[in-house]
Amino acid sequence: LLKCLNTVETVFRRSVGTEPIESVIVVVFLSPGENDAPKSLYDLMAHRQEQAERSVLISCPSRTSEKKFLKFLSKHGDIKKHFFYESYVSGPAGLYVFLPCFIVSAVGIMSSLCSTQLPFRSSAMTPQSSPANRTDWISSSCSFQIDEQISSLTEAYQLTEENSRLRFLVCSLLKDIAAAYFPECTIRPFGSSVNGFGKLGCDLDMFLDLDSISGWNLKRPKSGLSLEYQMKRTNSERHVTQSILSVIGECVDHFGPGCVGVQKILNARCPLVRFAHQPSGFQCDLTANNRVAMKSTELLYLYGELDPRVRSLVFTIRCWARAHSITSSIPGAWISNFSLTVMVLFFLQRRTPPIIPTLNQLRDLAGPEDESVIEGNDCTFVTDFSKIELQRNTDTLDQLLSDFFEFYATFPFSRMSINIRKGKEQNKPEVAPLHIQNPFETSLNVSKNVNTSQLDRFVALCQESAWLLQQSETRTPRGVGVGDTPAAWGLATLLLPSQVAGIKGRKKRKREPASERIKSLLESLKNKNEGKKSSDS
Ligand code: CTP
Ligand code: MG
Repeated sequence: LLKCLNTVETVFRRSVGTEPIESVIVVVFLSPGENDAPKSLYDLMAHRQEQAERSVLISCPSRTSEKKFLKFLSKHGDIKKHFFYESYVSGPAGLYVFLPCFIVSAVGIMSSLCSTQLPFRSSAMTPQSSPANRTDWISSSCSFQIDEQISSLTEAYQLTEENSRLRFLVCSLLKDIAAAYFPECTIRPFGSSVNGFGKLGCDLDMFLDLDSISGWNLKRPKSGLSLEYQMKRTNSERHVTQSILSVIGECVDHFGPGCVGVQKILNARCPLVRFAHQPSGFQCDLTANNRVAMKSTELLYLYGELDPRVRSLVFTIRCWARAHSITSSIPGAWISNFSLTVMVLFFLQRRTPPIIPTLNQLRDLAGPEDESVIEGNDCTFVTDFSKIELQRNTDTLDQLLSDFFEFYATFPFSRMSINIRKGKEQNKPEVAPLHIQNPFETSLNVSKNVNTSQLDRFVALCQESAWLLQQSETRTPRGVGVGDTPAAWGLATLLLPSQVAGIKGRKKRKREPASERIKSLLESLKNKNEGKKSSDS
């Protein structure tokens, strides 16, 4: 809008010269279309939520062609877009169609309501994601530069538009369930589903937002009587969260269409309900009262939007870590993706000149509208991207990747804590193998769970990857390798099984099989010759 006004002013000035102007009325027509995604995370989320309200998910009967099925569905409403995908979670593969912006005109309730069905209706019309098979990376296998490999990797594995919309649809479906108890509630996604660093297949973190009901932020009149809703009181907020999640968990378990394997993990630091949503294929974690996590999601999103190198580097490091089982989808003593992301951000703050600002700098740029204190934690930082001035740094992704490994191969983990608020390492405030200060709850260590052997493995793999990237044969596409196996180069070399697996302190265990997607990633990054061969055949 500012840019638009500046242009209007320049044009206007040209026609009126330097005469003083009393007032000008400018009318700007903003017409947000289906694909005009808003910029700020909050606007984007509101936009997606609104889209989700108008979307449905329908399972496609076996032995029915997609074309025929679409024809049938078009009798029930106007199909603007559709996405077919197969889902494999907990059960036989099923074909599903996701219809964004579909207003259903008439739907019967699956034959007649029989005794084996629970009388709960939602916008999932019978029942998951293995994301659709992606073949577009094949064309990128001819990349000559590591920079290009990194960009191809990001392009191929980031969340697609439809995957992102499906995530919001699942939140909306869950809201229908939670609304049985809390009609005005909202369910919002957070974490990698919306922070810009999500990889296809990542879990869906959601939180049940009851703020509009509890009215915690409503101002009471300073004097006189006011009428308030009476609400049951307890003396512990944690207890309230546990009670809410307990009943919602029961509800999801008993009535949630396609929700299976429901576990209530209420004694965790952050209580949650975990389940698999079959129709979308997402592993879901539902939390309540988790506003600080929403703030860290917003912060990560902002960093990712500031410079395209941020997302690409985070993405690559996340894939590298997964390929070497540094991270895992099972909770344990390993480094989490969130910790890894914070490590990459810290590294980018330590560049000369820095690629991204520190959190304190972002706080100093904040205006009164950005002020946010949650449970006593200062969560204030600027949300208007245009106020942030970046320094000129021309490092290539290739350089950054190599330097990232060197940086952490020699980082003084035993003494220092990683701190993105200050953008400088600090003395460790407590004993822990890896200490990463939580950006908002500053007394907490994000990587408290990490043990010494996992940290040692990370450091050894950083050393190995830094060394590999210094080898000239790693940096250039080479010919065919041993037997039928083409020689990997560049990024692919870093994703191959490591030579340092049996390092100090780590019991020999069977290497966890890399996910199917990582396997295909390796395929995609093979040398140029092989890439050509495969596309020819
Ligand atoms: N979070 C946090 N402190 C932690 C762990 C998580 O504040 N110690 C918040 C972060 O905002 C994080 C979100 O909770 O993004 C979700 O956590 P998690 O699912 O572990 O990480 P993701 O970023 O979603 O990454 P992944 O793709 O592995 O799910
Ligand atoms: Mg997550």
